[in-house]
Amino acid sequence: MSDFLRLAEDIAREAGDMLLAKRPTMSEEVATKSSPTDVVTALDTASERLIRERIEAARPGDRILGEEGGEAPGEGDVRWVVDPIDGTVNFLYGLPDWAVSIAVEVGGRVVAGVVNVPARGEVFTAALGEGAWLGGTRLRCNTGVPLAQALVATGFGYAQASRAVQGRVVAEVLPRVRDIRRGGSCAIDLCSLAAGRVDAYYERGINPWDYGAAGLVATESGARLAGLRGRPVSRDFALCAAPGLFEELHDLLVTLDPERDA
Ligand code: IPD
Repeated sequence: MSDFLRLAEDIAREAGDMLLAKRPTMSEEVATKSSPTDVVTALDTASERLIRERIEAARPGDRILGEEGGEAPGEGDVRWVVDPIDGTVNFLYGLPDWAVSIAVEVGGRVVAGVVNVPARGEVFTAALGEGAWLGGTRLRCNTGVPLAQALVATGFGYAQASRAVQGRVVAEVLPRVRDIRRGGSCAIDLCSLAAGRVDAYYERGINPWDYGAAGLVATESGARLAGLRGRPVSRDFALCAAPGLFEELHDLLVTLDPERDA
């Protein structure tokens, strides 16, 4: 397992360094009149290509699921789940909260995860049963926080219709908690939870590459990550918090029917 983690960390660091070096600034892009979005898309693709090449060189035969390139069919028991840039809009705007996220699954279970946040110089790591770490510091999520005192991170999808629902849901959550944070990267939200920087996180519509690595960081810090009504985490819903707060926020969210699409 530590071999997986070491390899994932090396690759996530290399991709992060590349992105940091090549990151465009908004003003540069405006000056050259090219579309900043295209530059980001090209770097997203380049980051995923680099990550895939490194995995294939070190572990030929493993399956790889990436946000940009999808998943080629394969037989192996090991699958790498890759988000070459999570928090793409932050990356585009020069905000620091974007990350390279790499998870390793064995038999469908995440056993190792790395979330590299290059612009902050922070690398979060976790191995199944062995804890979650930020550098040399073991991470423990906040416990014993009542809902009314909870700082709750969330996010919004790109589709207009789902945003309208997400807006109505968050309007009901906001008066019942300490405050809301919308950081712009699911992976960083979950790592922030692990580090005690927020108390809870929920979102509908996130993908395995968004929460694969960071989900392990969060659960290894003591948090619970699941869907609603006893279901596992999925695109349908992701809720994460320490036990106790998890149930309180879960019960509130269920009354708000956040899985509806309109
Ligand atoms: C997005 C981020 C964001 C979340 C969106 C995701 P991307 O991923 O994680 O925080 O709210 O749902 O799609 O597009 O930046 O890789």
